[in-house]
Amino acid sequence: MAHLGLIGIGVMGGAFALNLAENGHDVSLLDRSAEKMAEAVQEAKDEGLSGRLIACADAEAFVKSLPKPRSILVLVPSGGPLDSVIKMLKPLLDKGDLIADLGNSNYTDTERRVAELEDTGLLFLGMGISGGAEGARHGPSIMAGGSKASWARVKGPLQDSAAKFEEEPCCDWFGPGGAGHFIKMLHNGIEYADMQLIAEAYGLMSNGLGMSAAEIGAVYKDWNNGPLNSYLIEIAAEVSLATDPKTGSAMLDIILDKAGQKGTGRWSVIEALHLGAPASMMAAAVEARNISADIETRLQMEAAFGPSPKPIPKDMAPKKKALAALEQAMLAAKVCAYAQGFEVLSRASDSFNWNLDLAAIARVWRAGCIIRSVFLDEISDVFDGSDEKHLMLSPVFQDYMNVNAPALQAVASFGIINGHALPAMTAALNYHNMRRTGRSTANMIQGLRDYFGAHTFERIDDPDVKVNGPWHD
Ligand code: 6PG
Repeated sequence: MAHLGLIGIGVMGGAFALNLAENGHDVSLLDRSAEKMAEAVQEAKDEGLSGRLIACADAEAFVKSLPKPRSILVLVPSGGPLDSVIKMLKPLLDKGDLIADLGNSNYTDTERRVAELEDTGLLFLGMGISGGAEGARHGPSIMAGGSKASWARVKGPLQDSAAKFEEEPCCDWFGPGGAGHFIKMLHNGIEYADMQLIAEAYGLMSNGLGMSAAEIGAVYKDWNNGPLNSYLIEIAAEVSLATDPKTGSAMLDIILDKAGQKGTGRWSVIEALHLGAPASMMAAAVEARNISADIETRLQMEAAFGPSPKPIPKDMAPKKKALAALEQAMLAAKVCAYAQGFEVLSRASDSFNWNLDLAAIARVWRAGCIIRSVFLDEISDVFDGSDEKHLMLSPVFQDYMNVNAPALQAVASFGIINGHALPAMTAALNYHNMRRTGRSTANMIQGLRDYFGAHTFERIDDPDVKVNGPWHD
């Protein structure tokens, strides 16, 4: 059994400390708030884990309490707060001691920290941890990156405390430097796309089919028994079915339509663009959140151009048929979101020489994390032991698209004709259509580039030679 240090006893940190304790590990705690540490220690006592959590008065006492070589987990906000913790610890630690960052850090910062700390003889791991407070307490999904030697030091206690899928821990090491945080970032990018699809389906049901929040909740509940089964669909049902204790109205009708974001979705899109990998669904989700946040301009535009979407058409298809099509459309769009996510991961793996195991990534996302779903088990099967490069080229996912893409086309068309904003669904459709177009329209782009800038192009009858067109004398 291990004795680890944990810095940052907020909601997540406190829950994770209890989780480690429950799995038989001792944890020294350090936080600016003595009260939060005392609460965690008390909770441990209440749960029959007396003595496993040790509150420390200051950094010196904390470091002293740990057996050498020390392993310290840090769960503080990424950026400045994490750098301050590292600065505080550095002079107190000895060569071979390990710091592991469990926050949502940008992978480039993790690369820097690994290099800087390893230069001084310390070890550093960057780990993404997903599942919120509930996951931290009862089993999160963990994606680690850094040196293999560092991983070996904390693998045991972390795998003990992680979520399990059919006994297998959803916690693994994926590669050097910032690989773990890159994977967590992409997990969040996919999470954004998944959530945007759920919100678009909600909009179609509520504004397009005139359904109440409770009726919509029942639909998500029903979807959760089918191929869309996932944590996010499960909680979409709960959110839709909840009522406001203050007014008695549906909670959804009371929540201000202004989405927040902390940055991981945006980072995913930026990195995908750098890598030349498609991420249009994550981009659509980030943009939808950005536009949602500016309520004032939306209201001005609504006054200037009239509201959108249009009122429900009278000749609308019977609800049952429309809902079945929507479920299929969601499935096709979800395949596109994951295909894009894994394209980005695969491109990053090649560009950074990380040699990422895509099947193993899908495996640690099967339980504990926010995007957990039955779907990820199928994805891990596709990548397992095969050199399949693209999810959609696997027979299973090819079939998903052949069966469900026509519904996505129909639903997106209905939505667009009636003025619904469907950025993620239409991004999915465009991605699929572009990806399956053998002869695209990029010949026109090449012609224009060559016309104004003599950038050259390749001919279809001689692709190995770059030539110019006959535009100028
Ligand atoms: C998780 C979540 C977690 C957090 C997101 C929310 O995997 O447990 O993704 O990391 O809830 O950072 O991100 P936004 O605030 O950007 O939606």
